[in-house]
Amino acid sequence: MFVKFQAPSSKLQKKPKAQTPNSNKIPNPNFPFRRFGRIFLGFGFWSFFGVWILGFGISFGASLSITSLRCEYLFSPLGLDEPRPRLSWRVESSVRGEKQTAYQIVVTSVPDKLESPDLWDSGKVSSSQTVNVVYSGKPLTSRQVSFWKVKVWNKDGQASDWSETAKWTMGLLKPEDWKADYITFRDDSLIPKSPSPLTLPPAHQYRKQFSVSTVGRASPRAIRRATIYATALGIYELQLNGQRVGDAYFTPGWTDYHQRAYYNTYDVTTLLQSGTNLLHAWVADGWYSGYIGFGLLTGIGTEHSGRYTYGKTPALMAQLEIEYQDGSRDNIVTDKSWEVSDGPFQQADLLMGEFYDARKEERPSWEPAILASENGPAKATFYDFQNPGSAGRAATGPQIKGREVDLAFHRPPKLEAFPGLPVRRVQEIKPMAITSPSTNVYIFNLGQNFAGVVRLKVKGPAGAMVRLRYGEMLHPDGRLMTENLRKARATDFYILRGDPNGETYTPRFTFHGFQYVELTDFPGKPDLDTVTGIVMHSDTPFTSDFECSDPMVNQLFKNIVWTQRANFLDLPTDCPQRDERFGWTGDAQVYIRTATYNADAAAFYTKWLRELMESHRPSGTFPGYAPFPFQHGLDFGTAWCDAGVICPWTIWKAYGDTRILERCWEPMTKFIQWRQRESKDFLGVVHGNDWGDWLSVNEKTPLDYIDTTYFAYSTKLMVEMAHALGKTNEATQYEELFTNIKSAFIKKYVQPEGRLALDTQTAYALALYMDLLPQELRAPAAEYLAKKIRDNDTRMATGFLGTHVLLPALSSAGQNDLAVQLLQSHKFPSWGYEVDQGATTIWERWNSYTKEKGFGGEQNASMNSFAHYAFGAVCEWMFSRLAGIDTEDAGYNHIIIHPMPPSPDSNPDHPAINWVRAHYDSIHGRISSTWKRTKDQFELDVSIPANTTATVYLPATPRSAITESGNSLSNTTGAKIVRRETDTALLSIESGTYHFLSK
Ligand code: BGC
Repeated sequence: MFVKFQAPSSKLQKKPKAQTPNSNKIPNPNFPFRRFGRIFLGFGFWSFFGVWILGFGISFGASLSITSLRCEYLFSPLGLDEPRPRLSWRVESSVRGEKQTAYQIVVTSVPDKLESPDLWDSGKVSSSQTVNVVYSGKPLTSRQVSFWKVKVWNKDGQASDWSETAKWTMGLLKPEDWKADYITFRDDSLIPKSPSPLTLPPAHQYRKQFSVSTVGRASPRAIRRATIYATALGIYELQLNGQRVGDAYFTPGWTDYHQRAYYNTYDVTTLLQSGTNLLHAWVADGWYSGYIGFGLLTGIGTEHSGRYTYGKTPALMAQLEIEYQDGSRDNIVTDKSWEVSDGPFQQADLLMGEFYDARKEERPSWEPAILASENGPAKATFYDFQNPGSAGRAATGPQIKGREVDLAFHRPPKLEAFPGLPVRRVQEIKPMAITSPSTNVYIFNLGQNFAGVVRLKVKGPAGAMVRLRYGEMLHPDGRLMTENLRKARATDFYILRGDPNGETYTPRFTFHGFQYVELTDFPGKPDLDTVTGIVMHSDTPFTSDFECSDPMVNQLFKNIVWTQRANFLDLPTDCPQRDERFGWTGDAQVYIRTATYNADAAAFYTKWLRELMESHRPSGTFPGYAPFPFQHGLDFGTAWCDAGVICPWTIWKAYGDTRILERCWEPMTKFIQWRQRESKDFLGVVHGNDWGDWLSVNEKTPLDYIDTTYFAYSTKLMVEMAHALGKTNEATQYEELFTNIKSAFIKKYVQPEGRLALDTQTAYALALYMDLLPQELRAPAAEYLAKKIRDNDTRMATGFLGTHVLLPALSSAGQNDLAVQLLQSHKFPSWGYEVDQGATTIWERWNSYTKEKGFGGEQNASMNSFAHYAFGAVCEWMFSRLAGIDTEDAGYNHIIIHPMPPSPDSNPDHPAINWVRAHYDSIHGRISSTWKRTKDQFELDVSIPANTTATVYLPATPRSAITESGNSLSNTTGAKIVRRETDTALLSIESGTYHFLSK
C-alpha cells in the first residue's frame, strides 16, 4: 500500500546503529545487525591502528566515532536567533564501557579555517557531555555562518578523529536588519457581520522580477551566497525562477501574531541565475485570518465567525540577500515595487479546503502591491467568553460578549526565527479500493487514517469541476461519513484547464484528516491511479519500534504512531479533522511522554512551549489550549493547565534540556503561586472548566480530588526542575509544599488500610502514579484498585487522565499481570475493542464507531474524532514497563532497563506476551530491550549507547543462574550484580550490548 516513504529529514539523520550481537537468540528476523565491520572501516581506524601497533601491539580495541552533529536539535540549521546556540553529537563505539572523557569543539566562519578557528575553540574540556553544549565563542552576529566540528577523548584518553563538519547560520538578529516591509493587496472588502455564508477569499500571489549580473565563478561579482528570509501574516510559499523554495508547508506556522511572527531562512544560492530572475510568493489566510478551531461552531471570534482572528488581510514580508565574492550585496525586498494578483486558488482555507480554478493559472491581472499598513482600519466586533473570573472563578459566569477590535495591519512586536520542525509531505499512499455509492460519486479507501492531502490526476474538458470531500469513515450504506467534521467543510474543488495530456492537482494551503476521499463529477471513470494520499506532518524523526507476541498490541502501536503523525501539524493538536485542531493542553500533557518515545520531538515542543508559556492567563494559570486565539469557557481547567509544568518537565526528562526549564521557569512558578493562593489547607480547587477525567466510562472522579493530585504532582515536578537549575532554595520550598499537599491529601482522602475515600479507578491510579500514598499503603491500595477493576469485569472505567496513569500505577504497585490483561483486553472499553472495530488510529472514544451500532451508539457523532491521541498514552507504559526502557536521570545518561513480563499463563484468553522487542533512539543513540520468557528462563538482549550506563532489572529468583553471552557474570566485562531481590536481580552495566539469561 505504501509506495514511497522518504522523510526528508531522514536523509540527514544518521541512523543510530544497533548493537545486538545475539540476534539469533530472539525470534526476530530483522533484529539489529552486528556492526563491528562498519565501525572498523568507519572512524579513523587506520590512524588509531598505527598508534596501537607502535605502542601496544595490535589491538582491536576501538575508539569513539562521532555522529549526528546537531545545533539546537537540528541538522545544519539555517537562520537561528539563539545568541548562544547549543551543540550536540553522538559518540558510538563497539567497545563495552566506552566513554567520552573530554571534547574539543572548533567553530569557524569559513570551512577551511577549522584548523585555526576564528569563532571558537573550546580547547580540550574534560567532560562527558555530548548534548546541548552551549556555544561560548565570539558573539554571533546576523547572517553569521558557523562551521563546526568536534573531537572527543575516550576512557583511555585516546583522541578520536575530528568529526565531519556541520554548520549553522544565524538569521536576522536586529530589527534594522530587515529592509523589507509587509506587503499586501488593496483589500476593500467588508468584514461580514454574519458568520453565514462562509467567507473564503482567494490566496494572493506576489512577484518581483530582478536581474543579477555575474561573470563566472571566479569573478568578484560571482555569487557567494543567496539567502531568503521570509515571513507572513498568513501562510506562504515561495518560488524562485519557477523552483519551489524549501520543502516546508504552512510556513511560518501558527503563533500568536499579537505577540510575534516567525520567519524562515532559505539558502537559494543554486536557484539564482545570471540575468533575469523572478521571485514569486503565494500567501493564504492560514491561522492568521482563516477559520480556526470551533469559533464558527460556538459563535466566537470576529463577528461570531471564527475567522479573522489576528487580522483581516494576510501579508508577506521577504528579503532576498545576494552576497557576492567581493563582499558587495544586493537586497531584493518586499516593497511597493512588487506586483500582486489573485489566481487559481480562489479559496484556500485550512479548515474549509481549497477551490482551485486551473483556468486562472494563465494571465493573472497584476497590480502594484501596497504596504500592509496602507489598508486602513478594519473595525469589527470580536466575541469571546468574558468574565472568566479572576483565577477562573466566574463572577457573573462566562458569557459571550463582543468587544471592538481593529483588525487592520499591526506589525507583530517580535520577529523570531522559527524554532520548530517544518511540516513536510513525508509519504505517499496508494488507495486500496474504489467504491461508488451513487451515480457520479466515487470513494477511494486509502486504508489508513492520516492527515494531509491528495494528488488528483484528471483529464477532461476545460471548466469541468471535480469535488473532493474527505472523511475518516463510511456510513454502513457506503456514503462518506462527515458528521464528525462539524463546521470544517473539508472539501476541495478543482476546475480543469482542459489539458489534453491530463492534469494534476494537490492542495497547498489546507490539510484534512481522512482515510476516504470522495470524488464527485469526475470526468470519465477513475482508477486507483486517480488519487494518491500524501501524508503530512511536522517532520520529527521517528525514534522507536515496538513488537511483541500479541498481534493486536502490534496493531495498537502502529495506530498510536499514526495518530501522533496526524496530530503533529506544526503544533500538537487534539485532532486533525474537525473544526478544532487546537493545541489542547490536557491531551498534550497526558501524551507528551509517549510522543518523546516515538519521535525526536525536542524542537517540535520547543516551539509549542513558547506558545504555551506566552499564553498564560493574567491570573497566572495556563489556558486549555495554546496558541490561545480566543477565550472559550473559563480560565482554568484542572490537569489541562498543569500541562504548563508537565510538558517542560517531560522535555527536560527526555532530552536533558535545562534551557527549556529556564525559559519556562517564570510562568511555571506563577502557576504554582496561583495554585497556592487559591488552595485552602493545601488541597486542590474546584474551579473553571470541569473537564476532569474527560470521557471516563461510568465513573466520575470529583474534581477536587483530581485537582489535589495535580497540585501535588506539578509541585513535585517543580522540585526536580529547581534542582536541575541549581535553584536549591526554591527546591526546598517546593519540597515543603509537596509534603504539605501530600499530607493534606492523605488526611482527606486516604483511609488507614489503603482504601480511598473516593472509589474510582482513576482516583487510585492517580494516587499511585503520583506517589501520594504512604509507602506501606501502595500495595494495599493497588489491591483495592485491582479488585475494583475485576469487579468491573476486568474493564477500565477511566477517562483521559485515568487511562494514562492506570497501567503504570498497576505495574509499579505489584499488579503488573492485571495491567497486561487490560492492555490485551478486547472488551469495551479497551484498545483491543477499538482495533476489532477496524481502527487504524486511536479514537477519541473507545466506541466512536462499532460494527454493531455504527456511529449511532450512545455517542454524539459530532464529538467522534478518529484520530485523537490521548488514549494512546498507554504507549509510555509499553516502553517504560513492558519493554522496560526509561531514564533514571534527565536525558538517558543513566538508563533504566526494567522489563516487566507478565507471569506465564496469567492471561489465558489472549496470546501470551512472552516476548517483546523494542528500541528507542535516545538523544545518545539506540537503546534496545528485547526479551523472551519461556517456562523456566528469561532472556534479555540489551543495548545501550556509548557514554551511558544502565541499571538492568532482570527477572530472576534468588536461585536463578545468571549468564551473559554464555559466561558467568564474574567473567563478564561491563556488567555486575548490584543486588538480588525476591524476583529480580539488579545489574549495573556499562555501554554496549549484552545477552543475559536467567534460569
Ligand atoms: C477536545 C479534547 C479536549 C477537550 C477539553 C475537546 O473538544 O477534542 O481533546 O481536551 O475538548 O475537554
